[in-house]
Amino acid sequence: MKSDKPLRVGIAGLGTVGSGLLALLSQHSGAIAEKGGRQVSIAGVCARSRKKPGAKLTKAPWFDDPIALAVSADIDVFVELMGGDKGPALESVKAALGAGKHVVTANKALLARHGAELAALAEKSGVTLSFEAAVAGGIPIVKALRESLLGNSISRVYGILNGTSNYILTRMQREGLPFAEVLAEAQALGYAEADPTFDVDGQDAGHKLALLAALAFGVRPNFNAVHLEGIRGITPADFRAADELGYRIKLLAVAARTPGGIEARVSPTMIPRSSALASVDGVLNCVAVEADFVGQIILAGPGAGSRPTASSVASDIIDIARGHTGLPFILPAAKLESQKPAGMCTHEGGFYIRLSVYDRPGAIAAIATRVAEQNISLESVVQKREAPDLPGFGRPGKEGEPTPVVMITHRTRENLLRFALDAIVKDGHVAGTPQMIRIEAL
Ligand SMILES: NC(=O)c1ccc[n+]([C@@H]2O[C@H](COP(=O)([O-])OP(=O)(O)OC[C@H]3O[C@@H](n4cnc5c(N)ncnc54)[C@H](OP(=O)(O)O)[C@@H]3O)[C@@H](O)[C@H]2O)c1
Repeated sequence: MKSDKPLRVGIAGLGTVGSGLLALLSQHSGAIAEKGGRQVSIAGVCARSRKKPGAKLTKAPWFDDPIALAVSADIDVFVELMGGDKGPALESVKAALGAGKHVVTANKALLARHGAELAALAEKSGVTLSFEAAVAGGIPIVKALRESLLGNSISRVYGILNGTSNYILTRMQREGLPFAEVLAEAQALGYAEADPTFDVDGQDAGHKLALLAALAFGVRPNFNAVHLEGIRGITPADFRAADELGYRIKLLAVAARTPGGIEARVSPTMIPRSSALASVDGVLNCVAVEADFVGQIILAGPGAGSRPTASSVASDIIDIARGHTGLPFILPAAKLESQKPAGMCTHEGGFYIRLSVYDRPGAIAAIATRVAEQNISLESVVQKREAPDLPGFGRPGKEGEPTPVVMITHRTRENLLRFALDAIVKDGHVAGTPQMIRIEAL
């Protein structure tokens, strides 16, 4: 769609992503005008401080208030790059959509909680709400789901969606270091926030998964429906055992169609060492989609950072310049189905279990009985009599002291395994809490 009029964007937030976007729009302005069929001009910007580096990258009109920018008669597109799932981000996006402005945002937290409501508002105003940058930064997975894969019925979408936790797990696996030590190192290097909760406890990946599930399965984005488990409890002993058994441990985000509905979970997960995702290391992200006609596709790349994320924001802006707008979550907001919280008790799959078993006659037999009572069959059981270098395994070897036992189950229901583990703990043959990690068949 060619036009003599520029597309006028207002950018709220000039931090990591906002300053990357300013650099991209200035560096590629000529090519963007050709590809988009019209100039893209920056008609207004907003941040809290004018003194920070991002604010100095532009001479565009300054707005102190993001809502004033959102409704300004001088803009066609409001680009929200402030962050936060309420307050100024929510209010300004609502105001922009209400005022008939297209919205582009990188804000997964906002959309994972308010996506359906905001999509309905966009539809009512006949504008678009685009968010390529909100899921896996520079990886174009939103466009793949919104456009390229529309002819398919999707059965599973999964991935490594948080670079910080992937960096920590990669270092733990390679160096045999405990979580706390690697976290401190990641914080010193600037890979992890001072408060790492959002990254290491799964919320950030959960926000992204809520959006992927909405696009893949036609459900309302619902962060509360995502089951979350973080990586704090993973020990070097688990990495050593995983390696011996042919697995890697990743913070995996999975949304899948199951007989009981859509199951969405983020948790430390064992994946086969031979799978493509197993070699996605460090701060990289990766998303895989399984669908009936295409089979499997895998996209990997930078899941965050100023330039990769700006690349995705820019693609949404150029789409609007070209007149390529669509419904935010593919279906009309009123047709998106509600998604119930994932009941993990009905999850089916294989499991890794690590127990510290008191070295007494009959202990292993008693454990095997508890497992058999729930009709769970074991693929392997490994008992380590000596593992002095494995933190988390305790100090094995002496009669009566705990010895590490690792079990891999065949496919079973999670609640059956939990019943078995409860009984094993009550029997008194194990020290501490059993470690349980889901195994994902990839
Ligand atoms: N960083 C990434 O790699 C990445 C990747 C994908 C998605 N995202 C998403 O992109 C968004 C922005 O992230 P970021 O890393 O760029 O954040 P950031 O570096 O912290 O920048 C945030 C910007 O928003 C401004 N801001 C915050 N609250 C404001 C308010 N009430 N009024 C006006 N301006 C306000 C800040 O101004 P001051 O600096 O003056 O306070 C700053 O310019 C978030 O939703 C994030 O989840 C980020």
